Amino acid sequence: VIKMTDLDLENKRVLIRQDLNVPVKDGKVTSDARIRAALPTIKLALEANAKVIVMSHLGRPTEGEYAEEFSMQPVANHLSESLGQDVPLIKDWLEGVDVEAGQLVIVENVRFNNGEKKDDEALAQKMAALCDVFVMDAFGTAHRAQASTHGVAKFAPVACAGPLLAAELEALEKALATPARPMAAIVGGSKVSTKLTVLESLSDKVDQLIVGGGIANTFLAAAGFPVGKSLYEEDLLSQAKALMEKTNIPLPEDVVVATEFSATAEAVVKDAKDVGPDDMILDIGPKAAAALSALLEDAQTIIWNGPVGVFEFDQFGEGTKALSLAIANSDGFSIAGGGDTLAAVDKYDIAEQVSYISTGGGAFLEFVEGKVLPAVAMLESRA
Ligand code: 3PG
Repeated sequence: VIKMTDLDLENKRVLIRQDLNVPVKDGKVTSDARIRAALPTIKLALEANAKVIVMSHLGRPTEGEYAEEFSMQPVANHLSESLGQDVPLIKDWLEGVDVEAGQLVIVENVRFNNGEKKDDEALAQKMAALCDVFVMDAFGTAHRAQASTHGVAKFAPVACAGPLLAAELEALEKALATPARPMAAIVGGSKVSTKLTVLESLSDKVDQLIVGGGIANTFLAAAGFPVGKSLYEEDLLSQAKALMEKTNIPLPEDVVVATEFSATAEAVVKDAKDVGPDDMILDIGPKAAAALSALLEDAQTIIWNGPVGVFEFDQFGEGTKALSLAIANSDGFSIAGGGDTLAAVDKYDIAEQVSYISTGGGAFLEFVEGKVLPAVAMLESRA
């Protein structure tokens, strides 16, 4: 692919697609890992004296509708602070954007436009018309064939890979081509349905597969354990069972439960077999955390995506904390990816000890599965 760093951007209109899909609460960005990762690319373009337009999606708004809760305004504010310069947010941008050389604007959420998700060509052409050079730098959204990631790259005069995208691809390729063994993967998060194919593909690749979070609840239920009111997926029980027959997936011996889902809920540790009808499993228990951490001790490669509990609430964060520390203490090569995972890396302050931190969640998992990322494939065909 063509790289942004190979191009002369002076006075050019440069449209950069980044993944600035960050968590926002009460109008403030609560975890800025993706913004920090995007900054070097923006700075490079500004230093090259380009006319810089940044676009991204945020969350999953109803397409075609403006919704304040999904506005890029908090991201624009955060960028202004980080860069020490005004970063205007342009709400109506598809018909043209005014920007001076050496300046940066950010446009409103790409998913407010009809046709974004279905990769509408007319929409992609409008985006392409905004620029002389399109820079695809959103590794985290490279698995989506959408107008702002894939379509625009087809129609822009020049389409290239930004430094973050290039670095992500290079680091992951290097780590996964011939991984040091034993190799372990921890897959947490809430739903098996979104991660079933990655679990299946990882079960063939890794020496130890560990599940956590709502995903583990489905496996517990499939193994016949009571899960009470826990989040789990009934329709995936047989698939979970089949996977457990094929691969050794250790189940948590104990869990942390509560009878309500809230920041003030009382956390109670129970054996997995004693979960009551009103209990919700919100974390793995201390015995499980110790057992799973021990499984990571010898691992030479560790892939981590997804927390093993509701770590946003401190009382349900001990499991994720324990595994974070086990990963931090590992002398193997560790790779962490995904929005919640990055928030956990920040919360437990292990960024320095993780060998590679990817900004991708779904994209990271699809890469691990060996799938082609459509936005990258488009850059390849343009080159
Ligand atoms: C992510 O957070 O994984 C990316 O930003 C992609 O978001 P999406 O799953 O809503 O497309």
